[in-house]
Amino acid sequence: MLVVLKRDYEEISCLAAHMVANAVRSKPSVTLGLATGATMLGVYQELVRQHKEEALDFSRVKTFNLDEYAGLTPDHPQSFHYFMRENFFSHINAAAPNIHIPDGRINGNYEEYCAAYENSIRSAGGIDLQILGIGRNGHIGFNEPTSSFASRTRLKVLSQDTIEDNRKFFAAGEELPECAITMGIGTILDARKIAILATGESKAEAIARAIEGPLTASVTASCLQLHPDVTFFIDEAAASQLTQQEYYRRVMRMTALLTPDRLS
Ligand code: F6R
Repeated sequence: MLVVLKRDYEEISCLAAHMVANAVRSKPSVTLGLATGATMLGVYQELVRQHKEEALDFSRVKTFNLDEYAGLTPDHPQSFHYFMRENFFSHINAAAPNIHIPDGRINGNYEEYCAAYENSIRSAGGIDLQILGIGRNGHIGFNEPTSSFASRTRLKVLSQDTIEDNRKFFAAGEELPECAITMGIGTILDARKIAILATGESKAEAIARAIEGPLTASVTASCLQLHPDVTFFIDEAAASQLTQQEYYRRVMRMTALLTPDRLS
């Protein structure tokens, strides 16, 4: 794994967006795995800027989002459909049939629906580049602590931590989603390349446990240690509990010198 340590959120967003943009430029029909959440906003802003100012073309790109809250309709302001439309899809030229986001309206027949989602990823040729955020509890997607490393797309009950983290986004008194449809850890690990971003002090413990801790289903992001092509983009605050920062910086210097393609 490559650990890219940068000063602030703006720098990590830009670098991660450049990795996505390079993937699109080198393979116009690339399949991207996408995430939502506050951390992703900077990446989408930079990609939208490159679309508008540098003609970055998404017309043949296929996308698969990681997750969606069960029970929310696509026009609910807290749904991930809404988030993706507002922050990304309505500003670029991706074709609607190429965009895939789990449907929060599914009610029953979850297994069949989730197997079909997995099938459509397979039919698209698999995910070339998956981007991820990380929860304070170390989750990726909504693979909450104790999720199996072999899990596939499924209905998942959200942890209390996640529900509390999301409470601020919902109106007072509004019922909060307790479940989500999420790609599994096995699904995520099938991606050919993975980029994960973390910003701020509140992610420092999860990041240290994911990168330097033991492989454990208690911190599902630690599964990324098993993947051969993962890049962590981390700002100073989120990196503050990493013990080997000097080593990661040296690896970056050597990588830039010897295998610069690895950074794009
Ligand atoms: C969202 C997702 C989650 C978020 C994570 C971090 O699609 O899969 O794993 O990436 O909860 O969220 P933020 O960026 O809001 O801290």
